[in-house]
Amino acid sequence: MATRVCWLGHASLLVETDGTNILIDPFLNGNPKAAKKPGDVPADFILVSHGHPDHVGDTIDIAKRTGATVISNYEISEWLGKKGLTKVHPLQHGGGREFAFGRVKFTLAFHGSVLPDGSYGGNPGGFHLFLKDGKKIYDAADTGLFGDMKLIGEEGIDLAILPIGDNFTMGPDDALRAVKLLAPKKVLPIHYNTWDLIAQDASAWADRVRKETSCQPVVLNPGDWLDI
Ligand code: NI
Ligand code: MN
Repeated sequence: MATRVCWLGHASLLVETDGTNILIDPFLNGNPKAAKKPGDVPADFILVSHGHPDHVGDTIDIAKRTGATVISNYEISEWLGKKGLTKVHPLQHGGGREFAFGRVKFTLAFHGSVLPDGSYGGNPGGFHLFLKDGKKIYDAADTGLFGDMKLIGEEGIDLAILPIGDNFTMGPDDALRAVKLLAPKKVLPIHYNTWDLIAQDASAWADRVRKETSCQPVVLNPGDWLDI
């Protein structure tokens, strides 16, 4: 069966695999580049990388509407439980778990994680997905460059999803170094052009990836799908 990914704008993604819809960091309300409204996205699972509002986003509303299971770190999972969600699954860094669609492993990220109401959101992370159809997706989420990306790459990556916006995360130079460490087959840049502060030329970055690595860069517009 096939796996495809839709970039919903900023760091929001929809992964469709074997008929299962996995939403990642669904920040749609208040996102000037959002390709969909929170009421229009399907979700069987929602993955939340860290506590910042541009990642927690509409998680609570969408989970209540769809009955989706939310997967995040322990602290965010507890917080979501206090907000009324009953289907939450906590992971912690380096740990993974099998779900109906495949395995999810919670990976390192160098960033912050305070929750929208000021609650402690634990430590931020990324997600390495090992899907039932054999495809492997690594979403670094919000992070700076770190050398252990090499270890993540050793497990295999068909699609890496990397921030290139700079200021709050890796910028284009470090994201290019990340591609070299991770050695994915394809790379999708995200977390740029949402606001002026993180404006970047993704096409120019893609040219550098093509020139300096054997990885295939894919630049999408919000709402576009990519077959993996
Ligand atoms: Ni953040
Ligand atoms: Mn962010």
